[in-house]
Amino acid sequence: MDLFEKCLKYDVAKNARKQGLYPYFHYLESGQDIVVNMEGKRVIMLGSNNYLGLTSHPDVIKASMEATKKYGTGCSGSRFLNGTLDLHIQLEKELAEFLHKEDVVTFSTGFQSNLGIISAVAGRNDIIICDKENHASIYDGCRLSFAKMLRYEHSNMEELEKLLQTVPNDKGCLIVTDGVFSMGGDICKLPEIVRLARKYGARVMVDDAHGLGVLGKNGRGTAEHFGLEKEVDIIMGTFSKSLASLGGYMAASAEVCDFVRHNSRPFIFSASIPPACIASALAALNILRNEPQRVQNLRDITEYMRKTLKERNIPIRQSEAPIIPIDTIDDWRTFYACKALLEDGVYVNPVITPAVPAGEAIIRTSYTATHTKELMDEAADIIQNVFEHKLPPVEYFNDLREKMNK
Ligand SMILES: Cc1ncc(COP(=O)(O)O)c(C=O)c1O
Repeated sequence: MDLFEKCLKYDVAKNARKQGLYPYFHYLESGQDIVVNMEGKRVIMLGSNNYLGLTSHPDVIKASMEATKKYGTGCSGSRFLNGTLDLHIQLEKELAEFLHKEDVVTFSTGFQSNLGIISAVAGRNDIIICDKENHASIYDGCRLSFAKMLRYEHSNMEELEKLLQTVPNDKGCLIVTDGVFSMGGDICKLPEIVRLARKYGARVMVDDAHGLGVLGKNGRGTAEHFGLEKEVDIIMGTFSKSLASLGGYMAASAEVCDFVRHNSRPFIFSASIPPACIASALAALNILRNEPQRVQNLRDITEYMRKTLKERNIPIRQSEAPIIPIDTIDDWRTFYACKALLEDGVYVNPVITPAVPAGEAIIRTSYTATHTKELMDEAADIIQNVFEHKLPPVEYFNDLREKMNK
């Protein structure tokens, strides 16, 4: 059998292109911001994770340019050997202080952080228990660890407890959860997770990719939000969202970080974060520390948009973070809505199967501390017009699917 048969048969993207509904790989001709220039048009950005609006902040840009001038464009090697700069050490130290943990290890991306942390701390003789809606990188980290993975229905604490009861005494156990779930925008039930972990002797790891800069009075994330910073054993996060850069990290005890530094293959066998990215993450962290009102601005503008969309009868889902999912139900209907919105000047993210169960497709909208009420009113007008006048009902797409299958 030809290995490439699956590629030759793959027609999902082709069908979407044929229908003129392909929603991916649109390109920007401007920086990532609240309004962007996308393929020649002014577009309101409701689909980025630039939560604090720092990708265009002058201090962040200046820091990355100065770092490039001083250190060059890349580190040409692993943190383990030639690729550690004083900047890496400074960022790890400052982040550990900010997150109230003993130590921090940085990785080249957020995705790689989950691969590197989970595969180092869990092995063949261990058990990892995951929320079913955890991020893909957590799943891949679990696979890479060779530990046995168990999964509970999203945020179902009874199921989590039942799974914990099956863990034999001679096995280590790690509970891993997203802090803020990236698609639904809901927050994990951390107090209950921590309580159960203590009861059954498990460790807790929180992926706070969407929690840092978003939750807690000071933007320290999900653990700060619940007052449980000491109780979470490993806080993982990324620099690609609130911190306007690229890279990821784990914050934990000195012993666990030291172990990961010397045993994590994705950490050891990969080049370190380039100077510009480390310097911009440091500058963004500095702004987060000194301007916590940005976190409040983000909450206020998200609340404003939630209220505005509700008043206009847009079918939004309940969520707590700066992510507001809008129900579009059908995958093709989701593509159609994204296209119509983009034509009218709003970019949003389509979320379809297998990222969500069939029939539960959504448009994921996300917000930035620097979004203004005027801009949100403009975006809400466009969304309302598309949902009221342009978006056909689900049945239309059932017919379309049947036609395509013939
Ligand atoms: C929950 C979660 N974890 C990890 C990642 C990976 O982070 P990065 O994109 O910085 O590699 C993401 C990115 O979307 C995420 O949403």
